[in-house]
Amino acid sequence: MSKKYFKVRGGNKLNGKVTISGAKNSVLALLIASVLTDKQLVIEDVPAIKDVFDLVEILEYLGANIIVSDQGERKIITIDNKNLEYKPLLIEQITRFRASYYLMGVMLGRFGKCELLIPGGCFLGPRPIDLHLKGFESLGCEIEEFEHEGNEALRITAKSGRIEADTIFLDFPSVGATINLLLASAISNGTTILENAAKEPEIVDVITLLNTMGANIRGGGTGVIRIEGREALKGCYHQVIPDRIEAGSYLMLAGLLGENVIIDNVIPEHLDAVVSKLEQIGINMTIEIDRITVTGRVDKLSPVKIQTGVYPSFATDLQQVMATMLTQVDGYSEITETIYPDRFKNCHYLNDMGANIEIKRSENFGQAKIEGGTKLSGEVVEATDLRAGFSLLFAGLVAEGETEVHNINHVLRGYANIVKKLQNLGADIELIEE
Ligand code: UD1
Repeated sequence: MSKKYFKVRGGNKLNGKVTISGAKNSVLALLIASVLTDKQLVIEDVPAIKDVFDLVEILEYLGANIIVSDQGERKIITIDNKNLEYKPLLIEQITRFRASYYLMGVMLGRFGKCELLIPGGCFLGPRPIDLHLKGFESLGCEIEEFEHEGNEALRITAKSGRIEADTIFLDFPSVGATINLLLASAISNGTTILENAAKEPEIVDVITLLNTMGANIRGGGTGVIRIEGREALKGCYHQVIPDRIEAGSYLMLAGLLGENVIIDNVIPEHLDAVVSKLEQIGINMTIEIDRITVTGRVDKLSPVKIQTGVYPSFATDLQQVMATMLTQVDGYSEITETIYPDRFKNCHYLNDMGANIEIKRSENFGQAKIEGGTKLSGEVVEATDLRAGFSLLFAGLVAEGETEVHNINHVLRGYANIVKKLQNLGADIELIEE
C-alpha cells in the first residue's frame, strides 16, 4: 500500500483567496437523507473529501444510481433512488467514518428496519451512541446487538413496521442524535417533538433539505424541534452550506501567517465565536456578507482563554487548530474542552516541536495550559485525528525547517483540496506518495 504524507516547510507569509467548500458534517447527512425518497436528489457544493466517496460506495451498494459532476472545484452529486432497496449494511465502508450512523435513521424511516456495523470515525475518546438508540426506542424500535465476522453490529427494528411518533428529551444536545432522530421521524405516524435538541447550523441545513423534500419540520436552530411525519418524501435540489470548521481553520492560519487573505464562501454568523476570539487576540478582519478578509494583526498579540461548547459556543472541532495559534502568542492561554475532554493528542506533537503545553484532565473536562511565544521547529508528526492533522500542518507552516505530517488519511477525510488551497495561498506544502 502506498504511503502518503505532507511535507511542509515553515516561514512563508500567506496571501490570496481561499474558497471554502461545502460543510462535511452537513453533506454526509444530506446525502444519506436521499435514502428517504425513491425520487431524484441533486446536491450542489459537495466537498471533494474521502468520507463523501466512501458514502457514495455505500449508497451505490444499496442500489442508488449516482452521478458525480464537477463545477470547477465544486462537485454536484445527483442521486437517483429508483432502484434503491433494503439491504443489511454489514460492509466495511460503514466503519470508515462516523456519520454513517445516519444510515440507521433513514433505513428506519424508509424501511422500518436496519442492520449495520457500528460506525467508525476519529477517535476522540469515548463516543457513545446511546442517545441515538434511546431515541429510536422511544420511536417504537427494538435494538439488538450482535457480532458479524468479529465486528460489533446492530439490528434495529420498528415494532409496528414503521416509526411511531413520540416526544423525546435528549439528555445532551447531541448533533448526531438530533439529526438521526430527525431523519427517522420525517416519515412516520404523527408528530415527534425533540427537546433539548442541538442547534448547530448543520442541523438547520438538514432540516432545510428535508422540508424541501416535503417534510414538515419546525424549530430548527432552536432547542425544540417538531416533526410532523409524512407518508413519503420527494426529490429536490439543495446547496450545501459552507463548512464553518474549514473556514475557521483557514481564518486562524491566516490570522497568524497571513498578510492579506480572503476567506471566501462563508456564513460569517456561523463563525462568531472564533472571530470574536481572533479579535481578542489582535487579528484584524473585514467581514462582508459571504467573506472574511484577514488584513493583518496588531504588533503584540494577546493570550486568551477558550471554552468549547455546543453551538453557538466555540466549536470543539476548532480548538486543536487554535492550540497551534496560541503557541505563537506570548503569555498564558488556556483551552478548556468540555465536549471531548481527551481531544488533545495534537498537543503532545506540538510539544515535540517546541511548544510548552501542559494537559490537565478532570472528571468532566480537559484543559490545555499553553505558555505561548515558543519557537517551533520541524519534526515528523502523526495526524492522530482530523483536526489534529490541521493543527500539526499549521504548526509545520509556522515552524523553522521541515515537518512531515503522517497518517494524513484523517486530514483528507475532512479538508477538501487542502494541498492546492494552501499552495495557492503561498504555503510550502507537498503531498508525498511513496
Ligand atoms: C459531531 C461532529 C463532530 C463534532 C461534534 C461536536 C459529525 C459527523 N461530527 O459529532 O465533528 O466534533 O458533533 O460538535 O457531524 N454523546 C453521548 N451519547 C450519544 C451521542 C453523543 O454521550 O449518543 C456525547 C459525546 O460523547 C460527546 C457529546 O455528546 O461528548 C457530543 O457529541 P455529538 O454532538 O453527538 O457529536 P457527534 O455527532 O459525534
